[in-house]
Formats: sequence, C-alpha cells, structure tokens
Amino acid sequence: MEHYDWNDGWLFTPTFDPAIVRPECPELALEPVRIPHTVKTLPYNYCNENDYQRLCGYRREFFAPKEWQGRTVLLTFDAVAHDATVFCNGRRVFHHGCGYTAFTVDLTEALRLGEKNVLAVRCDSREDLNIPPFGGQIDYLTYGGIYRAVSLDVKEPAYLRDIFIEAQAEGDFRIYTSTVGETVGCTLQAEIRSPAGSRALYDGELSLPIVGTLNGVHPWSIDHPFLYTLTVRLIRPGTGGLPDRVLDEKSTRFGFRTIQFVAGGLYLNGQRVEVRGLNRHQSYPYQGYAMPDSIQQLDAHILKKQLGCNAVRTSHYPQSPAFLDACDELGLLVFLEMPGWQYIGDESWKAQALQNCREMVCQCRNHPSVFLWGVRVNASADDEAFYKRTNEAVHRLDPTRPTAGVHIRRKDQLLEDVYAYNDHSYAGRGPGCENRANVTPDIRKGYLISEFGGQQFPAKAFDDEPHRLVQALHHAAVLNDAIAQPGVAGALGWCMADYNTHKEFGSGDRICYHGVLDMFRNPKLSAAVYASQKTPRSPSDIVLEVSSSMALGDHPGGFAGACWVFTNAESVRLYRGNDFIAEFTPDRRGRFAALPHPPIEVQDFVGSLLEKYEGLDPVAAPQVAAILNEMRRDALTLSPLSRARLLSLRLGWNDLLRMYYKYIGVLGSPSSVYRFEAVWHGRAVRTVVKEPVQSVRLECTVLNPLLTDGPTWDCAAVSLRAIDQNGNLLPYCGEAVQLSVEGPVKILGPSVVPLRGGMAGTYLATTGEAGRAVLHCKMEGALDTEAALTVRKRG
Ligand code: GAL
Repeated sequence: MEHYDWNDGWLFTPTFDPAIVRPECPELALEPVRIPHTVKTLPYNYCNENDYQRLCGYRREFFAPKEWQGRTVLLTFDAVAHDATVFCNGRRVFHHGCGYTAFTVDLTEALRLGEKNVLAVRCDSREDLNIPPFGGQIDYLTYGGIYRAVSLDVKEPAYLRDIFIEAQAEGDFRIYTSTVGETVGCTLQAEIRSPAGSRALYDGELSLPIVGTLNGVHPWSIDHPFLYTLTVRLIRPGTGGLPDRVLDEKSTRFGFRTIQFVAGGLYLNGQRVEVRGLNRHQSYPYQGYAMPDSIQQLDAHILKKQLGCNAVRTSHYPQSPAFLDACDELGLLVFLEMPGWQYIGDESWKAQALQNCREMVCQCRNHPSVFLWGVRVNASADDEAFYKRTNEAVHRLDPTRPTAGVHIRRKDQLLEDVYAYNDHSYAGRGPGCENRANVTPDIRKGYLISEFGGQQFPAKAFDDEPHRLVQALHHAAVLNDAIAQPGVAGALGWCMADYNTHKEFGSGDRICYHGVLDMFRNPKLSAAVYASQKTPRSPSDIVLEVSSSMALGDHPGGFAGACWVFTNAESVRLYRGNDFIAEFTPDRRGRFAALPHPPIEVQDFVGSLLEKYEGLDPVAAPQVAAILNEMRRDALTLSPLSRARLLSLRLGWNDLLRMYYKYIGVLGSPSSVYRFEAVWHGRAVRTVVKEPVQSVRLECTVLNPLLTDGPTWDCAAVSLRAIDQNGNLLPYCGEAVQLSVEGPVKILGPSVVPLRGGMAGTYLATTGEAGRAVLHCKMEGALDTEAALTVRKRG
C-alpha cells in the first residue's frame, strides 16, 4: 500500500486542446500550477461569471515504476468543478459529472510501467452543463478547476473500497466493508482506537457486518467531540506455514453518538439540542472554491468558537473533507446537502443528482458531525418519483441519519424525515417565523428552519449604523422565535459570510451581502448576535458589542436612535465620564426572552445624575430622567403623560432643554465618554469605551500564522481593520491599504486593498519554501503595521 499526494507537478491551460492528452505536446503553452487551483481568479466584486466558465485542461507527467506490475493504481480527485474527463496516455479512462464529490480512477490498465506516463483532465466549468446545480438561475458562483486535493494509491489487486461504521452512544457498533477484486478466503480485522489510545480488535468475514459493543465509550457530542479511529484490514490467511498477509488497510475517524430527529426536535445522545447556526458557502474572494485545508478549517473554527454556533448547513452542496474533519473535531453539527438550487432537470440530470446523493453519503457518512442529509434540491418543486428515489438511496446507504428536504413553500410534499423550511417571512415586525403547523404537512415529523434572513435584510459592513443594527435585530428576532416555538428544532441563519453571486442576485456588484461576516470573514454587527449566545466558561468568553458609535450625526435628524448591547454577561454597567449611569440586565420577559442571552436595549443615559448635579430630590430626579430618555428615543417629542408630569414637577421647557443638552446632548454639544462594562460573576470583565476618535490604527491579524507547505500550498487568512484608540472598529474608514510581503509567501489578489466598512483582508499563499514571512501594511493616516507568520515544509 503506497500513498502519494499529487497536488504538485500539474500544468494548466485555460483553453482545452485535445493535444494535451497526447504523450508529447510541445506546441502547447502550459502554466505550472498547484492544486487547489481555480481556472480563473476573479476581482472582489463586479466580476463576470462568464470568465470562469470554460473548457480547460490539466496535465501531469509521471513515472510508473516496474514494481507496480500486478498492483492496482488508483487516482483520487477530491473535487473537480464541474465535469471531468480523465485521460491516461491518451486513453479516456474516466468521466465524472459532479463538482462537489470525490471520484477515484483506476489507472492500472492504462499505465505504461517503467516509462513516463501522461495524465490529462478535460475540465468543463460551463454552466450550461446538464448536471446539478445547473439548469436554472443560481444564487452563488460555481467557479471551476481541480480545487480539492489529488492523491494516488498503489494497492494489491484486491483492496478495500469503502468502510462504514454505525456507532451508537452506548457503544454498539456495526462495521460495513466493501471490497474490489478477488477476495475468496480473505478475512477482515477491525481495530478501534479510543481517544486515549486504547485498542480493541474484532475479526470478521467479508459477507457480514462486524457487530459489537465497546464498553465505557465517550460519546461524541457538541461539548465533548470524542473521536475514535477505526482501521479495517483485509487479510489473506497464510497457507502452508506462511504468515497472514494484510492486503489492504483503511482508516477513518468516527464518533459514538445517537441521533433522533422527532416532532419535538433534535436529540443527540438522548438530549435535546436547540439547533443554532448558519449556512455556509465554500467560496472566498479572488480564489472562489480553490482554497487549501487550513482555510476551510478556519471557517469551522469561526462558526463554532467565534460565533458560538452548534450547527452549519453546507448550502448547497457537499463541502471539503477538511471542513467536515474540523466540524468533527470541534463538535459542530453538519446538515449536508446534495448539490442543486431550485431547478430539477431531465432524466439524465436526475440520474446524476441521484449519483451525487450516493457519493455524498458514501464519502461523508463516517463523520460524526453530519446529522442530517439534504436529499431534496434546495427550494425545488415537488417531484414525488425523483425524491422517493433520493430518500430511498440515502436511507439504504445510511440507515442511521434522518433525511431532510429544504422547501421554500408551505405544505409541499414531505417524503423526508424532516421538513426543512427556508423561512424568509420576517419583515421586521410580528412573529420572527411562521407557525410550524401552517408550513409542514405532517406535524408528527421533525421541523427545522433551514434559512432565514438573507435577502430579507442584506447589510453591508459599510451601511449606516441603523441599517446594520436592524440586520442584527432581525437575526435575534428569528433565532428567538424559533426557540420559543415548540417543535421547531432550531434555525440556521442565511448566512455565514457575504458571497459572490450571479447577476440576477445580490447588490448589483455580484455580491450578496447576506453574511454576518464579510467575504474575508470579518464580523459585522450581526455576528455579535450569534457570538453573544455562547455560554461563558471564563472571562475571555464574554462578548460585549455595543451597536452605536454614539455619534449623533450618524442618525436622521441628529437624534441618537437605539443603542443595543449584545452580550453574554450577567449585566452591563454604563458610565458617562466618571459618572455611573445605570446597570442593565437582559430582559427575560421582552422581545428576545427565549434567547440564552437576550440583547439589551440601553434606554437610560441619565441615571441619577440629576440628583447629583441638579439637586433634584430622589422622587423628582428619576421622573425627569425618564422624560429626558424618552426625548432621546423619540427625537425630542414628549408624550402627553410626560407633558403632564412636567407640569406637576413645575419644570419649564427651557430647563428641560438645558438638561437635555447637558446630559443627553445634541449635535454640536461637547462630546462625552461612554464606558460600557460587562459584568460576570460580579466583576467587570470586558470594557467598551465610545468617545470621539482621536487616532486611527490599522490592525492586522493573521488568523492562522503557522503554515505548512506540503502536501500542497498552504494559505494564511489575514484580517485588516481600522480601529480607534479604544479598539473600536471605524466603519466609515475606506482608506487604501498597501500590502507587501517578505519571505516565502505571495499575496493572492491585489496588493492594494480598500477598507470596506473599515475592514478588509488578504490571503497569503506559500511558495514551496520554508521560513519566516512578514506582511507589511501601509495606510495613509495610520502607523505602518506588520504581522509575522511561519512556514514549515512537509514532504
Ligand atoms: C434562499 C436560497 C439561498 C439564498 C437565499 C438568499 O432562498 O436558498 O441560496 O439565495 O435565499 O436570501
């Protein structure tokens, strides 16, 4: 058994020429590339979706040693977008028609041993292909190229094609294997290794599953994602005194866990889990889908650790093995969906869709994080015959997990175990989501809100403060109402990050600004809605995000508008200058009461200052303070009740206005310093200070500063943010940042990037060398800044 990574050594042509499959093709100008590769890098926005739609070619020469005689040589592509035809030494050996699943090509027959061989891939990324997701309009770009890893395995003629383990929380398991080649007389051995390293061995026969119970297992859960390793060996027993021979060996990680999706919601290991998460597209600026494992893993990390999500939907296709591995490790549940978007094609299209379902399940069913299979094309119409087949195929290949269909209509046919509903009904007032009974045709089955938000309320990081706030409150309202409604398993917001899209969608610049993060994964205000729902375990888990800059001029009429605090602290204390104003606690009866940590609306900016500075008595002071706070909220108007109160207090309008100017402020009044403190376990553990900006700093953070070049190129994600002297984001800073690097990395995309909403990013790709690298950033009006990273070399 030999395994080779095959990500290096490829040559690329953006225009396919049949000559590329020939043993020699000196006339072609080919460009050396490393995998993951995109057929076309794109600008940040205003890109043209025709640019990546092409018929192009890849070529790789290799030497096949004579020792491969009698062996089986298998070449695996983790993903080629979207239609791949593979040639070996001029011979067409394989065709695959899905851009989101892996495929393995048996090269054995086509090889020339002891010689140079030529492998070529005809890669078609045109969107008129008759395969999913194509056929209709699509709200995301589909890109092109060999964008996930490639590897080569040299095996015996008899080998293990696949292994699958079903493992329940109590320790019961069943292991299924499938083999290729002559295996008469062969046996199996399964080894289960625990996270602590202990091993248990089981013998089995090829025709039957290996069934057993492991005692004392640690179940896989969201909080404790214990991972076990299964290794299955295909053994040819020795005869005539010869020892047994291991023909093949295959390993996979897995977890012991039990999933039940019922009318009452999702149960993991017998415990109810309130699904709270986001939808994710696997695309990035410039590179589209072509990003290495570490960038994929980073997304899982952001979702679980930064945003506190417990689930993600891989909308609208199976995503990279590296992303799923990270979800397994982090305890992030995955709703994995077949490729497609609204459209259902003809019989040939459907046959491919069915094949995609089978590949999705066979390739991902050992991931403990996967809790739900999406077996209906996102938001498509009913098609009983077709969806009976997808359900049946998926259930047959994995009897342990429920299936879901994602609908945008009410009362569609429900052939799946779970009615997943893209509930975009909330328009800013009223219930955040529909009543489940009005939507699903069968309330005895599971129900999940698979999407909400999105086009209902896009928000750019550079939109004004009220707009950004409304997006955040929109997410909070729907999350809240999904929790409050019995029988709703939870909700997945649309979506994790802004994404490039087709001309029919988005803001006209080929971007859907639907993310709670921007395209570089910088957080917008709405990200704090999710982050603040985390259960804090230490002071560093405390989130404190204040919605307002306290700049009056950013609001219509110069009136302050609402100020919300997103926090998982027990309370928030507000100070103005050195004066304590008030302490606020989450409202457990209000609009967001069902959330673990309801956002707090700050409505008192006066507190006891009137007693302290105006000499008002303890009865009058709070009444006048309430009137001032009301004036702040309602743009200086007074309710009849407040007017009456003013009379009884014998306070004139001019006195009131003077106090308003002094304690609340109008445009042009001397500015104040506001300090918000998050209190946890009685202590202030996080502070936000809002005051006029005195200096601008460029913050540059490399999210993954340790890179490994090998088995292919690696990449660092960099976040750039303009911040003030207190670390607050400066959302209207739009300066250009000039980037340059030293050391073994190169900048992907432009080397001058504008800040958008005070934020930007870049990606640094390794170049095949090891060493220390430095990113230098220059911005007018701020000190130069830099960040270091280290590149190791493997292989
Ligand atoms: C949904 C669709 C998503 C996205 C979203 C935008 O209906 O499934 O892919 O387009 O709308 O809000």
